[in-house]
Amino acid sequence: MDTPKRYTVTAALPYANGPIHLGHLAGVYVPADVYVRYLRQKGRDVIFICGSDEHGVPITIKARREGITPQQVVDKYNAIIRDSFAEFGISFDNYSRTSAPIHHKTASEFFRKMYDAGQFVEQESEQYYDPEAKQFLADRYITGTCPRCGAEGAYGDQCEKCGSTLSPSELIDPKSALSGATPILKKTKHWYLPLQQYESWLRQWILEGHKADWKPNVYGQVKSWLDDGLRPRAVTRDLDWGIPVPVEGAEGKVLYVWFDAPIGYISSTKEWADREGKDWEPYWKSADTKLVHFIGKDNIVFHCIIFPAMLRAHGEYILPDNVPANEFLNLEGNKLSTSRNWAVWLDQYLVDFPGKQDVLRYALIATAPETKDNDFTWRDFQNRNNSELVAILGNFVNRVMVLTHKYYGGVVPSSQHLNEADREVLDQMRKYPSILGDSIEKYRFREALSEMMNLARLGNKYLADNEPWKTQKTDPERTEAVMYTAVQIAGALATLCEPFLPFAAASLAKMLDIRPLTWDEVAQAQSIVPSGHRLGQPALLFEKIEDAPIEAQLKRLEDSRLANIAAEKAAEPQKETVSYDEFDRMDIRVGTIVEAEKVPKAKKLLKLTIDTGIDRRTVVSGIAESFSAEEVVGRQVCVLVNLAPREIKGILSNGMILMTEHPDGRLEFVAPSRKVKEGAQVR
Ligand code: MF3
Ligand code: ZN
Repeated sequence: MDTPKRYTVTAALPYANGPIHLGHLAGVYVPADVYVRYLRQKGRDVIFICGSDEHGVPITIKARREGITPQQVVDKYNAIIRDSFAEFGISFDNYSRTSAPIHHKTASEFFRKMYDAGQFVEQESEQYYDPEAKQFLADRYITGTCPRCGAEGAYGDQCEKCGSTLSPSELIDPKSALSGATPILKKTKHWYLPLQQYESWLRQWILEGHKADWKPNVYGQVKSWLDDGLRPRAVTRDLDWGIPVPVEGAEGKVLYVWFDAPIGYISSTKEWADREGKDWEPYWKSADTKLVHFIGKDNIVFHCIIFPAMLRAHGEYILPDNVPANEFLNLEGNKLSTSRNWAVWLDQYLVDFPGKQDVLRYALIATAPETKDNDFTWRDFQNRNNSELVAILGNFVNRVMVLTHKYYGGVVPSSQHLNEADREVLDQMRKYPSILGDSIEKYRFREALSEMMNLARLGNKYLADNEPWKTQKTDPERTEAVMYTAVQIAGALATLCEPFLPFAAASLAKMLDIRPLTWDEVAQAQSIVPSGHRLGQPALLFEKIEDAPIEAQLKRLEDSRLANIAAEKAAEPQKETVSYDEFDRMDIRVGTIVEAEKVPKAKKLLKLTIDTGIDRRTVVSGIAESFSAEEVVGRQVCVLVNLAPREIKGILSNGMILMTEHPDGRLEFVAPSRKVKEGAQVR
């Protein structure tokens, strides 16, 4: 489209059934925020719209599990999510919720208009019904034996053991998760959106119209859906949580969550307009508005096929100009997972790294899964901070501030003596707004970020080449020109880093004591920070992150990993019965390890000397892969002292230490929980 008159930018409405984690930020909200902040810098008319997605079965399940109402669930998480977004500087113009009255009204009217125009197909089908709880069962509310792998506890839509997608009728021995009753099949009526009727239109609109400008991952997924052929999709459900179907004879039925949620973008826009005294309609109905949906890849079909079909059926709305979906971000090599607690929760991050929101924004943009799944690692996070933010951007700004204060008492020197090379550098600087803008408008945020850092690199190189710290004594005029130029670059960075690093941008502007220029002003202004202007006080933009906090994060993930393995591993079955006498023949004592050394040429073995209270004896133990010789000295252990001696690698071993094992095979001593005297019996 030609330059649009206004922009409506939406970010996927997060489900209000849990806090948000770094995958959400990286995939959707940070890229959307960079885009919007850039557009605002460009002086465009833009609204940035989001809210909580508060309907759907998972929320009712969560409520049931926690013994609270669905409304209490969404109230809790809506507040947590809202806070996280605000903390990370995600600059929505409006953040609404789909339980808001304005949304219920908007979604009902939307459905009703389509209904009145005959755009749904009514159809009866048989679905599982719980005769005790007297309600129809969502797929997730039916459990049974998986027909593929035989695991128990598979859900009506999926077996979590083998990962198969299922339908409830396939489950062996299905049971209702509500009452435990065996569900019966019962007739029910639903409304379907006949998607197949939109197929040729969708082909034309997307496959022909957006081949060039939609991201290949998005385009590819849409094409494969269309090539598979579209089928009618139910847009209503038998459920008691959601927006009632506004039709007679639909008691106990609600709109399917994926029907109402995207309409939430429109309701949220209305809420914004009411508050701001604006007109919402041009943002959704004018052909000169550019509508952009930021989403994760699991939302592609809903935003590229179903919602557009709804918008078109309704008839009054514009369609998205682009849907820049990202792929997924993994964490330390594994898929992010709420149930396995494999995630970095944003509320927790803020406790662990207070004030470091920009560092996470930076690391996430730099590793954003723009074209393929990508991996977030804590080491990479640390490196990005230490060797990029601190060493490049922070270092440049710091040198500019410190030298200007040292040489000129903080007053920007004169530009009278600029030479060709300085002007050249300033010209190069003036190109950055359009370099970054080109990347951002193509949704290439990683590229834009690295260009922003290139401007800081240019600044560093310029200082290193011109060495004002050397010329200051010999050539004050030259030094003035160099410092003037360097201050201009710092000033440009205050504007150009803002979409990515809004907090650092604000501190930088404060340090320079300037009102940052706009994007276009940076490209055009003679001077960004004029001669004679007095800078504020230097402060550090970024601080080094040491190893300890990074190791603490890795430790936390390691604990999750172990807990997950443990949860999956069933305990060994019990051994055969022994008599008390048989047990009593074993003489087990508490001893203290007094010496330890590795057994040469045996990677598993340590040779231990143990004070058993009875004597000091040698025990050879297969623990060397779990413990070093140094760390075991001084530890109390339990020793089976009357085990027949045995020669191991030429050493006579006289007893055995009691050990247990972590799920991953690492060994652990079995020891008294407090120190006891050597020789104490274990029975
Ligand atoms: N709640 C959905 C998710 O987290 C996204 C809904 S986007 C909307 O996957 F368009 F439906 F709002
Ligand atoms: Zn299975």
